[in-house]
Amino acid sequence: MEMDQLVSLCKRRGFLFQSSEIYGGLNGFWDYGPLGVELKRNVKEAWWKDMVTSHDDLDAPAGAPSSFEMTGLDCTIIMHPQVWKCSGHYDLFHDHMIDCRQTNKRYRYDQVRGRWVEAKGQRIFVATMVETQDEAEDLQRRALKHFKLRAKDAEQLSWDGDVTSLTTVEDTSVVLGPDATELGSLTEPREFNLMFKTIVGAMGTEEDAAFLRPETAQGIFVNFKNVLDSTRVKIPFGIAQVGKSFRNEITPRNFTFRSREFEQMEIEFFCHPEQSPAWYKYWRDRRFQWYVDLGLAGERLQLRDHDPDELSHYSTGTADIEYQFPFLPAGEFGELEGVAHRGDFDLRSHMEGKLDPNTCPLTVEVDEHGQPRHRGSGRDLSYRDDESGEKYVPHVIEPSAGADRATLAFLCEAYTEDQAPDEKGKLQTRTVMKLHPRLAPIKAAVFPLVKKDGMPEIARDLYRALKQHFPTFYDEKGAVGRRYRRQDEAGTPYCITIDGDTLSDKTVTIRDRDTLEQWRVKLDDVEGELSGRLK
Ligand code: GAP
Repeated sequence: MEMDQLVSLCKRRGFLFQSSEIYGGLNGFWDYGPLGVELKRNVKEAWWKDMVTSHDDLDAPAGAPSSFEMTGLDCTIIMHPQVWKCSGHYDLFHDHMIDCRQTNKRYRYDQVRGRWVEAKGQRIFVATMVETQDEAEDLQRRALKHFKLRAKDAEQLSWDGDVTSLTTVEDTSVVLGPDATELGSLTEPREFNLMFKTIVGAMGTEEDAAFLRPETAQGIFVNFKNVLDSTRVKIPFGIAQVGKSFRNEITPRNFTFRSREFEQMEIEFFCHPEQSPAWYKYWRDRRFQWYVDLGLAGERLQLRDHDPDELSHYSTGTADIEYQFPFLPAGEFGELEGVAHRGDFDLRSHMEGKLDPNTCPLTVEVDEHGQPRHRGSGRDLSYRDDESGEKYVPHVIEPSAGADRATLAFLCEAYTEDQAPDEKGKLQTRTVMKLHPRLAPIKAAVFPLVKKDGMPEIARDLYRALKQHFPTFYDEKGAVGRRYRRQDEAGTPYCITIDGDTLSDKTVTIRDRDTLEQWRVKLDDVEGELSGRLK
C-alpha cells in the first residue's frame, strides 16, 4: 500500500482531516472526522478496558510475578511549572535544530542524512531528509545538479561510504543542505525546547509562564501520594492516564505520526525495587501482545530492546514496540510505544529536587552556591509496607503508548485491496479496511434491498434496535453493491440486507466484510448473532 492511498481514503471517508484546512491547514495538527473519532475512541477504550477496568486485582494475569491493582487518573494539561523543572523537561527536553540560510527551511539535526560524493576534484556531503523517496536516487540527482553533470555522466561521481547522519559530519562548509543549491548554507545546531509555553492569568508576566504538558506521566507521579491516601491500593499497583500531550516538534510529518498535539495512553506501575526487573519484563511482553491481539500481527510489528549503551543510567531496561509504517524507508520501523524501567528517578526528583542525570548513585543537582538547582516538593513520596514495616521509594515501570500512532498503525494494517464479485458476478478490485471488530467505527450497516414493499420500514426498525447495542448505520441509497463497497471502506464488519424473503419468512442476509460469506438469520436473532461475533 502506498501512503498516499491511505491518506486519500482517510480524507474521503472522514477518518482524518488536516486541522484548520479551509485556512490552509496548520502543520502538525490533525482533526479526526466522523469515522476517525469512533476509531480512536475505540483504541483508547480498548486500552482502558484491557489495562484498567476489566483488570482483576485478585488474580495474577499470565506472566505476572504476582496479582496487582490498577487505577486511573485524569490530570490537567497545565501544571505547576516546578513539575517540569524537577522532571528534567525544562532543562533537557530539547532537540537540536539547524536552519538553511539559503532556503530559510528548518530541520531536526538528527533527521538529516546524506552521503559523501567526489567529482571534478571536489568532495562534498550531499544531505537529504529521511523521506519515502528513494534516498540513493535523490542524492545522485542532487549531486549531478551540483556538479553540473547530466544523468549519462553519473559514472563521474564517486561515492564514498553509506548514507549516514549529518551528526557525523564535522565541517559544515562542505555540506549541500537538503533543499539548497549552494554549499555551507546550514547553520550550527541549536537547542530548542519542545514544550509549548503559555502565560497563566490576565495580568500574567514572564513570571507566570507555564507549559502545556509534553507527557501525561508527570501528572501521575505528582499524584502518587493522593492515590495512595485516597484508595486502598498496595504495591504493586499501576496508575493509568489517557490524555492530550503537546510538543513543539521541529519537523512534524508523516501524517499523524509526529504531531504537535497528540494523545498518550500511559501507565506508571509502582513496585518494590527488587521485583522491578520481573515487572519490566511482564509489561514489555504484555503490551506487545495487546497490539498483536488487535490485529498488528506479523513481521510489520517488532519488540526491540534498547542496547545497554542507549539506556539512562537509572534504567535497567527499555524496549520499544515498533511498526513498519509504509512511509518509512524499506526495513525501518517507527516507535508505537516505549516500555521503560524508570527506577525511582521521578518520585525522588519530585521529592528532593531535580536529580543530576550524570551521577550515579543519584544526587540532587546544585547551583554554584551549592543550593538545589530546582527544588523538589519536599513531600515524602516513599511507600511504607504495612505488613513488613519496610519503607522505600518504589521503582517504576512505564508503558507509554501514543493513541494517534496506534490508530495510524491500525489504519495502515487494515488497508487492503482485494478482488470481489460485483452484482453481475464480475470480479472487481475493492478497497476494504480490515479493522479488528473491537476497533471498527461502525459495527453493522442495515440496507433495504429496494425502497419499496415495506422493506425500508423493517430495515429502519432493525437499525433502531441494533443502535441500542452497538454503532449501526442505515443506508437505502444506490445499488446494494455500492452500499457494500462504502461500508468496506469504512471497515464495517457486517452488513444486513432486508429483501423480498424477509417479508415472507422474517429472515435477513448477513454479509461478512472479510470473507464475503453471506448467510440468513431470523430477524429476531440478528442482535444476538452480531453481539456474539463482535466480542
Ligand atoms: N512518558 C514517556 C514518554 O512520553 P515518549 O517516547 O516521548 O515517552 C511515548 O512518548 C509515546 O507517545 C511514543 O511512543 C509515541 O507513541 C507517542 N508520541 C510521542 N511523541 C509524539 C508525537 N510528536 N506525535 C505523536 N505521538 C507521539
